[in-house]
Amino acid sequence: MSISQFMSKHHRECDDVYVKAEGLVSEQKWEEASDAFTQAYDDFMLHFNREESTLFPAFEDKTGMTNGPTQMMRSEHMRMKATLEDLKMALQEKDKDKFLGHSEAFMIFVQQHNMKEEQMLYAMMDNVFDTESEELLKEIA
Ligand SMILES: [Fe+2]
Ligand SMILES: [Fe+2]
Repeated sequence: MSISQFMSKHHRECDDVYVKAEGLVSEQKWEEASDAFTQAYDDFMLHFNREESTLFPAFEDKTGMTNGPTQMMRSEHMRMKATLEDLKMALQEKDKDKFLGHSEAFMIFVQQHNMKEEQMLYAMMDNVFDTESEELLKEIA
């Protein structure tokens, strides 16, 4: 499996759990929503961590591009993490409208971010890493 395949698949997994949480909030099934949201939150954090702690530094080392796409993606992660905190708060307050208000923008932002990574950054990673790919996948699995 390539880095691109592995990470793109994880994007889908994060989305699926998040969408489930959002659906449960819409139905105001707070307890189940809270469990699903916690899972989605942890999945997003794991995903960001795989990128920020392992893949991005490896890409930067290999290409010398430290002010390029990885920096842009890191700053987008900060924005998504901030929104995840807003969503968490809205859920704790059982405020459906507030949650769904943040949620719409969050989902659009996540889709755009993921598309940039899949079409640009992960594709570049597949090109620049050869033997390192396997090591990196082991590290993040
Ligand atoms: Fe990312
Ligand atoms: Fe990603």
